[in-house]
Amino acid sequence: MSKIRLGVNIDHVATVRNARGESYPSPLRAALFAQKSGADSVTIHLREDRRHINDSDLKEIKSKLKIPFNLEIAATNEMFKIALKRKPPFICIVPEKRQEITTEGGLNLNFKKNFLKKIINKLKKNKSRISLFVEPNLNDIKESKNLNADCVEIHTGKFCNLINKNKNYKNELKRIKSAVSLGNKLGLEVHAGHGLTYKSAKILAKISGIKEFNIGHFLIGESIFVGLNKTIKNFRKIVK
Ligand code: PXP
Repeated sequence: MSKIRLGVNIDHVATVRNARGESYPSPLRAALFAQKSGADSVTIHLREDRRHINDSDLKEIKSKLKIPFNLEIAATNEMFKIALKRKPPFICIVPEKRQEITTEGGLNLNFKKNFLKKIINKLKKNKSRISLFVEPNLNDIKESKNLNADCVEIHTGKFCNLINKNKNYKNELKRIKSAVSLGNKLGLEVHAGHGLTYKSAKILAKISGIKEFNIGHFLIGESIFVGLNKTIKNFRKIVK
């Protein structure tokens, strides 16, 4: 089985920074840390309200990071203009609602279809790899192919929620497996993301045909505990 690439989403480093309006913790530092630690790519979501990374983070990450960065954007003119200018190696088009806490579902591919198709082709000509964030349903996989996307990223939020609540996830897993299989059959590269934890990633890693995981919230949260010990010890040395 070929290795699954790991994309590390660092949005929540920016969320912590923005909560205090300070310059730290630095998303660029997190991106470089992810690179050093074996990530295959770094994911950043430039939201309309800039609630996590902002335009300067994007510029800095683009200029300093050696591994590819994956820019998540909503299907708006503003974001497409930025993507055309910054030429991210990877782009994932996601739905975006201003009031949501996080990306709650996959794209509605029946909305603004012609606009999406036009812009996907433009971004591809600009040398970005284009992925669409979709629910694990077969119509959306077929539609992604019709729209000429290179990849689909399957929204694993529902699956992960069921696992976290110790509920039966078999049907959702079946839906994901069928979506992966159709995606592969149609020649799309299939990714998965949203809500992934050690437990859910372990289950999904057994499905052959998923080429990339994008993981953020749990990974950043877990790293607090892995790093807290060292940080407290550093302060212990100062506060003798
Ligand atoms: N993939 C996509 C397309 C996303 O929008 C997100 C959330 O920003 C993720 C992956 C990462 O999700 P999480 O932070 O829950 O791991």
